[in-house]
Amino acid sequence: MSSTIGLIGLGTMGKALARNIASKGFKVSVWNRTPETTTEYILKYGNEFLTAAENFEAFVEGLQLPRKIVLMLPDGAPTEEILRKLLPALDDGDCVMDGANALFRLTELHQKQLLEKGVHFLGTGVSGGEEGALHGPSLMPGGSHEAWQSFEPILMAIAAEDFNGKACAAYMGGGGAGHYVKMVHNGIEYAEMQALAEAYDLLRSIYQLKNEEIAQIFTQWKEGPLESFLIDMAVEVLKKQEEGKSLLELIVDKAGQKGTGTWTSQEALALGVPTPSLTGAVFARSLSAEKDTRTRLAPLLKTPKTVASLTLTDFTAHLEKALTLARLSHFTQGFALLQAAETEHHYGFPFVEIARVWQGGCIIRCALLKDIHAHYTPLLYDAAFAQELILENLQNLRTIVATASSQAIPLFALSGSLTHLDAYRRAELPANFIQGLRDRFGAHGFERKDKEGTFHSDWK
Ligand code: 6PG
Repeated sequence: MSSTIGLIGLGTMGKALARNIASKGFKVSVWNRTPETTTEYILKYGNEFLTAAENFEAFVEGLQLPRKIVLMLPDGAPTEEILRKLLPALDDGDCVMDGANALFRLTELHQKQLLEKGVHFLGTGVSGGEEGALHGPSLMPGGSHEAWQSFEPILMAIAAEDFNGKACAAYMGGGGAGHYVKMVHNGIEYAEMQALAEAYDLLRSIYQLKNEEIAQIFTQWKEGPLESFLIDMAVEVLKKQEEGKSLLELIVDKAGQKGTGTWTSQEALALGVPTPSLTGAVFARSLSAEKDTRTRLAPLLKTPKTVASLTLTDFTAHLEKALTLARLSHFTQGFALLQAAETEHHYGFPFVEIARVWQGGCIIRCALLKDIHAHYTPLLYDAAFAQELILENLQNLRTIVATASSQAIPLFALSGSLTHLDAYRRAELPANFIQGLRDRFGAHGFERKDKEGTFHSDWK
């Protein structure tokens, strides 16, 4: 009997997603470039809902018409290769979904290319890592509406649940909308991770806390306003021991990156949206990778010794509030980028739905998304709940940034959030000075407060 859906690519995410689909009672057939992987996988997990075909032709032929095929491949060459192989075998009306972290522009190109053959293409952001893919990811599909309708029952069944028990999946709009939303999700993810890393750095550097002690502080935060998936993960990472040692102490301090944070920042720059924390987090990873240079400069530039001026209890209370406000800033920056992208690309983003779909399954899921969803505004700082939070927590964030600065501890994300907030609180910025300089040396012109129009002055 034919399968309801086909899945290509048995990497970590593909393996987990196929099992999730099968567990919901959909017949799924899988294919992988290396047959050994498929054989091993089917031996372990195969059942009447989870099968594999003999070869690629049988895989394509064995799917119900119009076909539904999910690609779970690394973006770039592997996806291109499979699309080239797949396209001649597909028929008018078939639907293909790409669940990788693909660049939205490429998704749009694929959508066009496939539509020439009458094949509908859905670019879907899938968040939640292996566990999410297996037990319920957050799903951000976008592109062909026909493809969305075709995949919808399956995606709704396999997704995580939001705070009210609804599926964390919704149509994100046309073109590359789905992958765009996932890209911004990852930009926020970078800032969230960096802010937590900075909190860890402050606690270990100023208070000489051991990882186990920092884990205790993070554990207390889990129950409060900072409640989030990444805090849970942080506790596990801080606690992990290997051969009697904290594993964190054995990990080299060079952060990797696959590129989604950089894409977010490139888009923010292209659209003129300030995302200092999101972009700062990317820079932090880049600078961390310069381990040799840091190691060479550290003794030459003589890092000062840290001294604690606040009690640990007071400092920790400031830090919790600072991180809570920083989180609001990360989401504000991310949603501001989505708003600008809507003006630029006209995807039809369902902004309020995005705040709902991120409530379960994904890496940035957190308690704050309840308020963001309930009181969404294009710039989140405009919302009453946000203003309350800013007035309540801003001094704490300032104390943390000031302390870090006095102790020579770099804060790429937390200081970015403070600057972002402070700038939005200023009706007057020194941009008049920039305009004066631009006009003085380049005759670029400026607007005046007292008259309409564009002016140029003879400055000499
Ligand atoms: C998710 C994650 C996932 C992954 C990214 C980021 O939502 O499940 O964002 O997509 O963590 O690949 O990886 P990098 O940190 O390597 O950019």
